[in-house]
Amino acid sequence: MPTYSVETTPPAPATAPAAARAQLLNQGSVEQYRQAIADGVDRVVRRVSGVDRPGTGITPAELAPVVDRVDLDRPLGDAGAALDELEDVYLRDAVWFHHPRYLAHLNCPVVIPALLGEAVLTAVNSSLDTWDQSAGATLIERRLIDWTAQRIGLGPDADGVFTSGGSQSNLQALLLAREEACADALGPAARAELLPRLRVLTSAAGHFSVQKSAKLLGLSPDAVIAVPTDGRRRIRPSAVRDEIVRCRQAGLVVMAVVGTAGTTDFGSIDPLAELAGICAAAGVWLHVDAAYGCGLLVSPTRRHLLDGIERADSVTVDYHKSFFQPVSSSALLVRDRRVLRHATYHADYLNPARMVEQRIPNQVDKSLQTTRRFDALKLWLTLRVMGPDALGALFDEVVDRAADAWQLVSEDPRFEVVTRSQLSTVVFRYLPTGPGRELADAANLYAREALAASGLAVVAGTRVDGLHFLKFTLLNPATTVEDVGHVLDLIATHAGRYVHDRTTAELTCPVG
Ligand SMILES: Cc1ncc(COP(=O)(O)O)c(C=O)c1O
Repeated sequence: MPTYSVETTPPAPATAPAAARAQLLNQGSVEQYRQAIADGVDRVVRRVSGVDRPGTGITPAELAPVVDRVDLDRPLGDAGAALDELEDVYLRDAVWFHHPRYLAHLNCPVVIPALLGEAVLTAVNSSLDTWDQSAGATLIERRLIDWTAQRIGLGPDADGVFTSGGSQSNLQALLLAREEACADALGPAARAELLPRLRVLTSAAGHFSVQKSAKLLGLSPDAVIAVPTDGRRRIRPSAVRDEIVRCRQAGLVVMAVVGTAGTTDFGSIDPLAELAGICAAAGVWLHVDAAYGCGLLVSPTRRHLLDGIERADSVTVDYHKSFFQPVSSSALLVRDRRVLRHATYHADYLNPARMVEQRIPNQVDKSLQTTRRFDALKLWLTLRVMGPDALGALFDEVVDRAADAWQLVSEDPRFEVVTRSQLSTVVFRYLPTGPGRELADAANLYAREALAASGLAVVAGTRVDGLHFLKFTLLNPATTVEDVGHVLDLIATHAGRYVHDRTTAELTCPVG
């Protein structure tokens, strides 16, 4: 409490300028809100309608000065002017995932009911940490968690929570697995002795967030063991079994096996039922990273590809990959809700323990986050408008299209293709013939960059067994086989030109 001497008058209470107050959404500003949002939507509509390529190929060096020139301390004063400026710093050069020749990463075109949800949830601004900041939002999230757990088949004791993405879901899963593995290590000394001996087994094609999580969880630098895969890039169950035995003989403790239902590069689905059997026999936690493959949960034709997932202890799903939801929208599901206690902390100011007895549903008790977006609303409106079958049909379509794309590439003598994906990726590379053959790596790298610079298409790249490959990730039902064929021609042209230029340059100025 400030104290004032008798002579001093207290400062007049500050009043924000009327213009500042007018920017707050409340009863007095609803028309301004409606107008601003409509203007923003109009800009997006204009851009989306006019887009003729997935990107402009702008470089960081070209765009950074435009962004740097903006003086953040000198406001423009109205939304229209700010939107004009936004055209230059963002919209003009944005990457458009709805464009049929965006074929790179696991970022999907989004469905309109989810965008409606996004508009509503940000304006209401519920926070999912506590009931008293969310009310119905908490119940909606819980219904969607139950719905997803039922689709997986996790049983009556399942639970879970929405997260910011697959990386966070995997982190939380491994946190829970670590805590379960440490459950018998009573006291800090026993725990400190056990932690460096913990191991996580995952496929050599698994996602890097497993490694990151292990680091964040204070595990040893060699805690994650990459288990070899078969010819279709699925983890070898016999190798998992052998590794568990080897670890035990070496005095190590396997705290989790991570099966991947849809590897990022190959779209391969590990043999989940076999992994579940091995984990059950060995008493090891099974986490299934279905960040990519979760779309199969609603597939009218391919749900069986996830058979065995129902036996997992925890599952990651990314609705923002194969449920056509805007970023971010993900969840972690667990078979036994009691394990979520490892993420619980009772804070007097927020979620005191007595609220559990009062049966007040505070989702923060299950989450790594405190303040948390109501992302669940997007999925809720999507299901209420479209229903699960329609979503699954969209995913089925891209999986079918990827199979066609694989066929196209595998029949094209200009390219070499890796395993046929169970989901929607195609990993391939341009293969120069004759003396240019050893330029394959450089030619593919060059082609990817040249393509991105042209903006005509965006494809991804990765390394397979030490060699550079290109990757299509299909998530857009609007992409046709003709689009794929067109992009292959562009790649072949860029790569072929590179090989030609390099080989003729070497002929005219021989090295040495
Ligand atoms: C298999 C898999 N797991 C986890 C992740 C991480 O998900 P997020 O990017 O939502 O953190 C990805 C991302 O591509 C993924 O492919």
